[in-house]
Amino acid sequence: MALSRVLVTGALGLLGSTLVPFLQARGHEVLRHARKGEVEICADLTDADQVCAALDAVAPEVIVNLAALTNVDECERNPQLAYLENVRIVENLAKWIQKKANACHLVQLSTDQVYDGLGPHKESNINLTNYYGFSKYAGELAAATASSTVLRTNFFGQSQCSGRTSLSDWLVQALTKGEPITVFEDVRFSPLSLARLSEFLEIVIAKRQQGIYNLGSRDGMSKADFAFALAEALGLPIRNMARGTSGKAKLNAYRPKDMCMDSSLFANIFSVELPTLKEEIQAMRAAYGDDIG
Ligand SMILES: NC(=O)c1ccc[n+]([C@@H]2O[C@H](COP(=O)([O-])OP(=O)(O)OC[C@H]3O[C@@H](n4cnc5c(N)ncnc54)[C@H](OP(=O)(O)O)[C@@H]3O)[C@@H](O)[C@H]2O)c1
Repeated sequence: MALSRVLVTGALGLLGSTLVPFLQARGHEVLRHARKGEVEICADLTDADQVCAALDAVAPEVIVNLAALTNVDECERNPQLAYLENVRIVENLAKWIQKKANACHLVQLSTDQVYDGLGPHKESNINLTNYYGFSKYAGELAAATASSTVLRTNFFGQSQCSGRTSLSDWLVQALTKGEPITVFEDVRFSPLSLARLSEFLEIVIAKRQQGIYNLGSRDGMSKADFAFALAEALGLPIRNMARGTSGKAKLNAYRPKDMCMDSSLFANIFSVELPTLKEEIQAMRAAYGDDIG
């Protein structure tokens, strides 16, 4: 695959901590951005001047934008912050790309939370029900003003990011300790593993295909079925795990019930075969195997 000079913004977050080493190992020149830390670029990306200075200095061929406010409840509490981090940052990146006559391509990560109602959802089936989804959708519109690929996704897997845990990390920890937990039967999704998403992102970086695409597993399941399938794959005890519904959870923001995506457009345009969610769960044996003995 062609090698690229790739800037990853929000590189020290959950996805960035898997994606960056993966792209480096594949031979790409990876420039890491964070607000602080040992990275090539430190900047507050909500500030247009800082964005221009940083991008002029490193001149990337592709930007993978992972910088975002991903805390759904925090977005609900603070819509202005959700706007700044999920929209303004993308506007700033898109404006710089426009200034460079689209010589750079933006890969914008979005979310399956732009959907609700009965899935699997095709790309046009937008149904916005919380500020997180709303702000991420507005970010997609900002990305579309420049050369860009927008990917609506969701993911799980072993976090390589200290202080950030994924859904599967939370389940593995709770099941290993035998903590009582309730898993939701009324919430459905179609996520990919962090490792598989990183592989697909490399293909997207190489192809630089314009458009908005769902990117998830070939099929979906409820979060309850996911939790029980993960426990079975990893041989973890299920005695304290109960099936329930999300209605009783005390959450600040509404959560969509069916986020399952139809990702066939991505599979066709990028010529890839999507895994089933069961296959992705089975792959967690290798990811978590050593940790849970
Ligand atoms: N996590 C999921 O399950 C999930 C599911 C679907 C889609 N997504 C999407 O995937 C992408 C990556 O998610 P993630 O979970 O890896 O995110 P994450 O762990 O929350 O990391 C986001 C990063 O953005 C940085 N950031 C926030 N505001 C910034 C600003 N003003 N300037 C510069 N950097 C800023 C943060 O830096 P600091 O460390 O300095 O705060 C953080 O490292 C996001 O677009 C998200 O919406 C995530």
